[in-house]
Amino acid sequence: MSGASRGEFSSSFGFIMAAAGSAIGLGNIWGFPTQTAQNGGAAFVILYLIMAFLVGYPILLAEFTIGRHSQSNPVGAYKSIKGGSRFVPVGFLGLFTVGLILSFYSIIAGTMVAYFISPFLSLVGANDAAAWVISQGVGANMLFASLFFFLTILIVAAGVKNGIEKWSSRLMPTLLLILVLLVIYVLTLDGAMEGLKVYLLPDFSKVLSAGLFTSALGQAFFSLSLGVGSMLVLASYTSKKENLVRLGRLVTLSDVGIAFLAGLLIIPAMYAASASGTQIFDEAGNLISGPNLIFQVLPALFNSMGSIGVALSIVFFFLMIIAALTSTISMLEVPVAYAVDNRNVARSKASIAIGVFFWAVSMTIALNFDLLFNLVVTMTTQYIQPLLGLFICIFVGWVMSRNTLIEELKQGNPEIENSFFMKIWPLFVRYVSPILILIILIQAF
Ligand code: TRP
Repeated sequence: MSGASRGEFSSSFGFIMAAAGSAIGLGNIWGFPTQTAQNGGAAFVILYLIMAFLVGYPILLAEFTIGRHSQSNPVGAYKSIKGGSRFVPVGFLGLFTVGLILSFYSIIAGTMVAYFISPFLSLVGANDAAAWVISQGVGANMLFASLFFFLTILIVAAGVKNGIEKWSSRLMPTLLLILVLLVIYVLTLDGAMEGLKVYLLPDFSKVLSAGLFTSALGQAFFSLSLGVGSMLVLASYTSKKENLVRLGRLVTLSDVGIAFLAGLLIIPAMYAASASGTQIFDEAGNLISGPNLIFQVLPALFNSMGSIGVALSIVFFFLMIIAALTSTISMLEVPVAYAVDNRNVARSKASIAIGVFFWAVSMTIALNFDLLFNLVVTMTTQYIQPLLGLFICIFVGWVMSRNTLIEELKQGNPEIENSFFMKIWPLFVRYVSPILILIILIQAF
């Protein structure tokens, strides 16, 4: 399929918003603060920054390069690039894995919608309904995950420019604004400063533990949407005039920056909640983390604040919905791009058919939540995603010729050939990133 008919971003801003929108999601606003709370505060933050730049950024750029060079999806890319035919199954594994990630992610995203809607139901006196929607029962999960699928399908069906670019460009600046306002407000609350200290002063005794290292790397992988082809596909819609190295740097910086800001919101908010009487430590004396952080501690804080709390809660969960939606779009887009590029299916048809297929998977997970949810999360994010990342490193580092890489990166960045970057990046993609990924995989098993 030719370039024009598969769609293209109209500006670098549009692409940055779409790629940052993919990267910035529940992983940043929920996952990162949660992991930080679990892993001793600032120590984890530092390790995360190192992993994001040393391992995440090189792989992100590898995906960008494959994507723009091939102007295709993961399967199409491996098919069209010399030496890639043996990697085609890896491309298919990516398409399927990103669909599974979409399936579980929509359930959590749906819960955010439920928490957003619940105060409105209370307001009109529908108290039973208000309690039911946030019960996280099977029915509520199915209803709200379905709603999320519906929104995602609508946007992806509308296409690259009129769907993904338009919505990411509207939603991402809104997200930043809301987040900054919430941070400023929370930092004025009693107790917040104590949280800020925990967040920013590292406990170096924790930096050295191996578990921390693998958690930080896993978090960087998930947060930068690596391995499964989200970034590859988005880059396939950028023009040859763009400087990919610069765009990759901007996307990594925004991802890390938003995660950091979210930590400035959540950790001080926990200590503020504690100051107003909410339990924030579990029996073992550790900060509460995991789902309970967002679904217990924060709502308790909002409740203790009266009507301003209701408003804050609505704004906060709206922020979560935006973050999640720009991420789910980039997930559904991967298999849809394959259907459009390689199977000649019309975009709207492909979006609906593939969307409905993974919606059914999502409903199956919701119906068998205890059995399947954690299993699918662990399998996709802890095993398959790093494994796919490893294949990308092998492909770009060892199979694609240095010449092809330079020719691609030179477009939009003519000076790159003799730059410091071009001396370092191939070494990372060949050795540093794959070795670190192998270490996490071995640890995971
Ligand atoms: N990175 C997003 C987050 O932090 C989620 C996401 C979007 C993702 N696309 C992905 C995760 C592809 C893994 C793979 O929430």
